[in-house]
Order: sequence, then C-alpha cells, then structure tokens
Amino acid sequence: MEQQAATKPRTTNYPQIHFNNNDKNTSPRKSIQLTKWISDFDWRLLILLFTSLFLLLLYFFSYGESETISFNKREAQALDFGSSRKDELTRSRIAVCLVGGARRFELTGPSIIERVLNEFPNSDLFLNSPLDSNSFKLSLLKFAPRVNSVRIFEPTNIPETDSQVRVLTAANSPNGIQGLLQYFNLVEGCLTMIEDYQREKGFTYDWIVRSRVDGYWSAPLSSDSFIPGQYVVPPGSSFKGFNDRLGIGDYNTSVVALSRLSLIPTLENLNYTQLNSETAFRAQLISQNISVQTPAQPFCILSDRKYPFPPGRFDVPVAALSSRGPLSGAKCRPCTPVCAGSCVADVMLGLAKWWSWTPWKVDTLELCDGRGEWEVGWEKKFDAAAGKRLAQFRKKVKSLNVKQCVKNFMQMRGKAAKWDTPPLEEICKLGLQSKQ
Ligand SMILES: *[C@@H]1O[C@H](CO)[C@@H](O)[C@H](O)[C@H]1NC(C)=O
Ligand SMILES: *[C@@H]1O[C@H](CO)[C@@H](O)[C@H](O)[C@H]1NC(C)=O
Ligand SMILES: *[C@@H]1O[C@H](CO)[C@@H](O)[C@H](O)[C@H]1NC(C)=O
Repeated sequence: MEQQAATKPRTTNYPQIHFNNNDKNTSPRKSIQLTKWISDFDWRLLILLFTSLFLLLLYFFSYGESETISFNKREAQALDFGSSRKDELTRSRIAVCLVGGARRFELTGPSIIERVLNEFPNSDLFLNSPLDSNSFKLSLLKFAPRVNSVRIFEPTNIPETDSQVRVLTAANSPNGIQGLLQYFNLVEGCLTMIEDYQREKGFTYDWIVRSRVDGYWSAPLSSDSFIPGQYVVPPGSSFKGFNDRLGIGDYNTSVVALSRLSLIPTLENLNYTQLNSETAFRAQLISQNISVQTPAQPFCILSDRKYPFPPGRFDVPVAALSSRGPLSGAKCRPCTPVCAGSCVADVMLGLAKWWSWTPWKVDTLELCDGRGEWEVGWEKKFDAAAGKRLAQFRKKVKSLNVKQCVKNFMQMRGKAAKWDTPPLEEICKLGLQSKQ
C-alpha cells in the first residue's frame, strides 16, 4: 500500500518532474524505508505541492510571451514610467513662483496648496505680491509644505524707458503701459528672488513653475507639463501671442520666459512694436529659439471683473467655476451657469480663436453671465464645486481677526528662508481693521 501510493503517481503521471529522477535509482526497498519517515499523507501532500509548482512554472514559461501577458507587461511599464517620472520630479529641485494680488486668495490659495504645492512637496514657494487690503489672506500659506521667499511690497510707479514706450502698446491693458510694466516687474521680480537664493546656496533649480495667486486649480498639476528644453504655457487666451497666465519650464527656458523687463531692449533691436503682454511673451520666447507646448491645464483665473454677455468675437467668456474643465486659465467665477451645451457651442464658435477663446468641449465648459457682480449666494456655489475641505479655508479667512492673522504670518515666516514684507500687523490691519 505505502509503496504504491508513493511511487505510482510519481512515475506514471509526472515523469518529467525533476523530483522523480531520484526515483529511477531508488529501489522499492529504499522507498519503503523512506516512507517510514514520511507518512502516506505527507507523500501525497508533497506530490501535490511539486505538481502545483511545476504547473506554475510551465504556465510562466509557455505563456510568458503570449498576447495577454505582454500587454499587461506593457501596461505595467507605462504605469511604471508614469510613476518614475513623478518620482524623478519629486527628487528634483522645483521653484514655484506665485505672483499677483491676493484678491480672492481664500478661494484660490487652498487649491494652489493642495493641487500644486502638495502635489510636488519638494517644491520651494516664492511669493511676489503687491500690498493691498487683501494681502492678509496670504497668511493661509502657513499651510504650504515649504515656504522659501516671501515678498510683499508697496507698489511704486515704474519709470517708462524709451525702448519700453516704443515696443509696448497700452491698448487692451487696463492701466496702460504702466500696468504692463507693473506686471512684468512682478514676474521678473520672482526670478530675481529665485536667483538671489540660488547664489546664496550655490545651486540651480531644475524647474520653475510660474503661476498666479488668483488661479483656482480644479485638479492637480500634471508631471507631463514638465518638458526639458521646452516651455509649457496653457492653450487659449493667447491675445495674438502666448497665454501668459501660467508657465512651466526647466531653468534655462524659464529664465527667458520670466525676463519680461530685461528682454525688452532685445525685442526693440529686433524691431518689434505695439506689443501687448501676450505678444511680447511670444516674441521673447521665439527670438530666443525656445519652442512652446500647450497641454491643457486644470485651472482658471478667478476674476471680479465684469464682462459682456453673451460675449462677442473679441470679448472674454466667463466660465462657471463648477465647469468640468480643464479651463486652461480662462476667466471664471462661482455662478449658476446661464449657458451650457449648445449655447456654449454658439458662443465659443463666435469667438476669435487667436484672441480670448479657450479650448472647450460640450461637457467641459459652462458659462456665467459676467455682466454684474458675483451673484448672491456665490459662496454656496463655490463650496459645492470646491468641496468641503477647500471650503473650510474660505470660512476660516472670513472669521479671521488681526491677532490670528499675525500669528499665521509668524508661523509662515518661521518656515521661510527669506522674508521681505511690511510689519505683519500692518498687513493684517489693512484688511481686517473693521473687525477690531
Ligand atoms: C543652461 O544654460 C547654461 C548657461 O548658458 C548652459 O551651460 C547649460 O548647459 C544649459 N543647460 C541646459 C540643460 O541646456
Ligand atoms: C530693424 O529696422 C532697421 C531700420 O529699418 C533695419 O536697419 C534693421 O535691419 C532691422 N532689424 C531687424 C533685425 O530686422
Ligand atoms: C536662433 O536661431 C537662429 C537660426 O538658427 C540663429 O541665427 C540665432 O542666433 C538663434 N538665437 C538664439 C538667441 O539662440
């Protein structure tokens, strides 16, 4: 009995198993002796174990190259590539430069923290912002993972040079050439802050992300937007040039893109005239042989400005913040959309594509009537679109007092390498005085 149970299945059914080779030289007697050590039950268990192992090996060797497996392999490689790209960026040095006034930062700031800064938690934040009654809201940045340099300054008039007057146009700029210069100075100032820090520490950032304080991010910034040797800007809102509401590039291309004031004499030498912000931006990059990519971007510019509705050929459409997106830097506000589906198609097909048009599909964009103030009850619309977690910051800022504001700024300053602002109490009182 024991002998049969031990040898029969091994020699007849599974002759090819390596385990059986010993058996050919093993006499029945030896087998019997062996089985004294191993019970009948154990032998069966062993056979079962080796059989399954064998079948498993057979499966891998014979089907290893079949369609399904190699497809899965390719998929796994693609996944692996995606995550290693992200890993690579997470190990590189990224500067995030935020510029502009704090206006509705209680709405945009938390989305920037969550979907840009936290998405690349190794990134260093550089903030360059003019002081006004909303600056106190920037104290929300105490929640940023890393704060490097903060500059909040009292804006002063920038003297206009001859070459600036020759190259730039005041048309379509709310504050004329001075408005353009203020904006260019803000952007280039951020580069100066980055360069100052680099010089001090003796290193160079691999990437610079330049964004606006009034950008609302509906989804995370993608690692696909970091392309070596090329500059990434959003599609649409190009006003005859390049959309300048966001820019991502390696260090060298970013230096060109952010040198908005210092490249003006170069543009003058190339005989450029009548440039607005976007056409100047385009001339800057093209004259320095930098190629530009325009992948869609999940953010919009939250604006309090009023715009005609329905927008005509050269008017600016106002997207509902709740649109599915990506909105690629279009103007937006929280609203009850008045235009969706075929209405959106009618409006968007009527816009000049090289001006204030924005990329859209029937289900990605809904429009607000931007003629008036933000509608009564916009807070509810915002909270519903942004979700509870982001909405709680809006409520926090609403109930902020000077003391808490100063405390927040002090925490933020504790994280920063460089701090260049008016006294904290002054910033906080400017916006919160009425609450004291
Ligand atoms: C960036 O520019 C510097 C100086 O012009 C140059 O030495 C370096 O090779 C450039 N880096 C890349 C990645 O092109
Ligand atoms: C700019 O214009 C001047 C005068 O018309 C001309 O001499 C020069 O070649 C032009 N420069 C370029 C780069 O086209
Ligand atoms: C850009 O490319 C052109 C043509 O190849 C070349 O003549 C010019 O010097 C380049 N400019 C810069 C700034 O690299």
